[in-house]
Amino acid sequence: MKNYHWIKIFESEIEMNNSISLGTLLPMQLRNEKICLTKTEKGIYAFQEKCPHNGALLSKGFCTKNNEIVCPIHRYSFDLSSGKATSGGALYLKCYPIETKKDGVYIGIEAKWWEF
Ligand code: FES
Repeated sequence: MKNYHWIKIFESEIEMNNSISLGTLLPMQLRNEKICLTKTEKGIYAFQEKCPHNGALLSKGFCTKNNEIVCPIHRYSFDLSSGKATSGGALYLKCYPIETKKDGVYIGIEAKWWEF
């Protein structure tokens, strides 16, 4: 079972939906992890900002109607639901869970083994 540090990113779902429009790529740093947040027709997703191929910033890429993020450099694409590459090779994008709680919207950062 994975343990997470849950970090509040918005005070409510309403605030989150008002802050991110469709296709926006919002970079942020939480607990030393560079994360990108986006909103598509299917929901809100959080994933590693650096492309697993060669480290380009995915926040400079774009989302497709197929719920993918496309890297701005070599155009590899990744499914936002699974993190799996849909073109370019057998790569995976690290994805972060998002949860709405009573007092806000949180992103889960997986805890390191020595933190528990
Ligand atoms: S750096 Fe992203 S596809 Fe090459």
